[in-house]
Amino acid sequence: ATPAARGEPATGVRSEGRARITARTLRTDRWWQTPALTVVGLGVFVVYATIRSFVRSAYYVEDYHYLTPFYSPCVSASCVDGARHFGTWVGELPMWIPLAFLSLPFLLGFRLTCYYYRKAYYRSFWLSPPACAVAEPHRHYTGETRFPLILQNSHRYFFYAGFVVSLINTYDVVLSFRGPSGFGIGLGNLILLINVVLLWGYTLSCHSCRHVTGGRLRHFSKHPVRYRIWTFVSKLNTRHMQFAWITLATLILTDFYIMLVASDTIADLRFIG
Ligand code: FES
Repeated sequence: ATPAARGEPATGVRSEGRARITARTLRTDRWWQTPALTVVGLGVFVVYATIRSFVRSAYYVEDYHYLTPFYSPCVSASCVDGARHFGTWVGELPMWIPLAFLSLPFLLGFRLTCYYYRKAYYRSFWLSPPACAVAEPHRHYTGETRFPLILQNSHRYFFYAGFVVSLINTYDVVLSFRGPSGFGIGLGNLILLINVVLLWGYTLSCHSCRHVTGGRLRHFSKHPVRYRIWTFVSKLNTRHMQFAWITLATLILTDFYIMLVASDTIADLRFIG
């Protein structure tokens, strides 16, 4: 009997012409391993980032001007003085508003709508489908054609916002090269620098960035500069998944290091100044 005759929706693995296999999968390898690791990895980041964004302590090292990316830009009167790299735009904020309220919604949107993360969480959280040749539990398949998933199309706009936030993070790193008496370099500077370079790697390897730089061009030969940039971005783009994961790790490490130094748990290792 056809799916329609059985009253089943004719989509996905139940569509006409597909083999009638009742087992969810015939795979015998550990196909569940990648989705399971993804849940653990993303879960750890979300829990850590949420807690740190709200605690409002040990986010700035006064002596060396280290500001954790989780609190940047800090533009309210609730921020400690030195951390306000862009001035004071608003008054005191209630505890339920993170001090990086200006950047967090955009960063969240940027990562949530990212083409790589979409693949990761569709597979691991929604099991849609969890792996190749493993049927998904959902009976209907509508892809990203309807609300709310059609909103994933906003990614290109979040890319521009993510670009601006990377500029802000870069400015924070530049300012951090000031020790108590002029120019200085410590381990914190190197960690902040590596983190921001990798954040640029993630931002510039974005699929939307690739489209912005070289999309819709009919003749690359007539746009040599854009062609060169597109070629560079395309090379980075093949590593987008790696940048997505590495930057989650470096964001946590950077914040954790600054938290340890800011709370006087450890002293910053100074090379100059
Ligand atoms: Fe991942 Fe744009 S940031 S595709």
